[in-house]
Amino acid sequence: MNKPMLIGIIILSFTLSVVAQSLQFPSPETYTKENADKFHKTATNGLSPVYAPLAEWLVEKFQLKEKEGIGIDIGGGPGTLSVELARRTNRMFWINADINTFYIPHVFQCAKDADVAHRVGAVFADAQALPFRDHYADLVVSRGSFQFWKDKQLAFSEIYRVLKSGGVAFIGRGFSENLPIEVANQVRSRQTKSGGMPKYDVNDTIKELKIIMLALSINEYAIHRPKSPENENVNYGIWLEFHKK
Ligand SMILES: C[S@@+](CC[C@H](N)C(=O)[O-])C[C@H]1O[C@@H](n2cnc3c(N)ncnc32)[C@H](O)[C@@H]1O
Repeated sequence: MNKPMLIGIIILSFTLSVVAQSLQFPSPETYTKENADKFHKTATNGLSPVYAPLAEWLVEKFQLKEKEGIGIDIGGGPGTLSVELARRTNRMFWINADINTFYIPHVFQCAKDADVAHRVGAVFADAQALPFRDHYADLVVSRGSFQFWKDKQLAFSEIYRVLKSGGVAFIGRGFSENLPIEVANQVRSRQTKSGGMPKYDVNDTIKELKIIMLALSINEYAIHRPKSPENENVNYGIWLEFHKK
């Protein structure tokens, strides 16, 4: 290959990588005030018992109580999880990052009500083009959002990029294993009645996540399928944990 051709290829790959990671214009038809208000209602009603146990479980698992650092919740919606995490940690700053900016007032209100407004922020962010520098976050979490990311591989590579070395990501959907079975049953039956019961193939999702981890050469990962010891048939969801070296 001659020199000008090589330079051409380098310029082209650089341009493609910049284009791939540049922000897409968020669809004003999808990311509406109506959608944000509607999900805020769900998070404060039917889904509300889910967040505190999940936050408790994350704080315990990753020893966050006295840790100092930055946590980001991607697709955090009205900020319920960020606020529950802020309430249980003393020195971490939590950033609720969502593509729908109409959630921002809900996040601030929720943080103010819980008296943690000084440790919770809210920003506009597309998971596929995160507005954070490399090696910024100690922990990245996300609940119930990754299924909406059009280019999941790009989003996961963005999460990996913004994690500090030694940082961890916990991305998934559903519940944590410490959620009592009666509560999980109540949430699932409310979702069935309202037509909001999530329908997805767990095995396909596991396959998809494994392919992405392989493509990104992330070897240190685990896929969790929490289960209740009392009833294995209730779907507690699926979570991907990965670490940055
Ligand atoms: C079902 S809600 C879950 C909200 C929150 N994580 C919770 O558990 O309460 C899905 C969220 O993902 C957000 N979302 C969808 N696509 C996104 C993207 N590409 N980047 C960031 N957030 C996104 C939506 O705006 C919405 O707030």
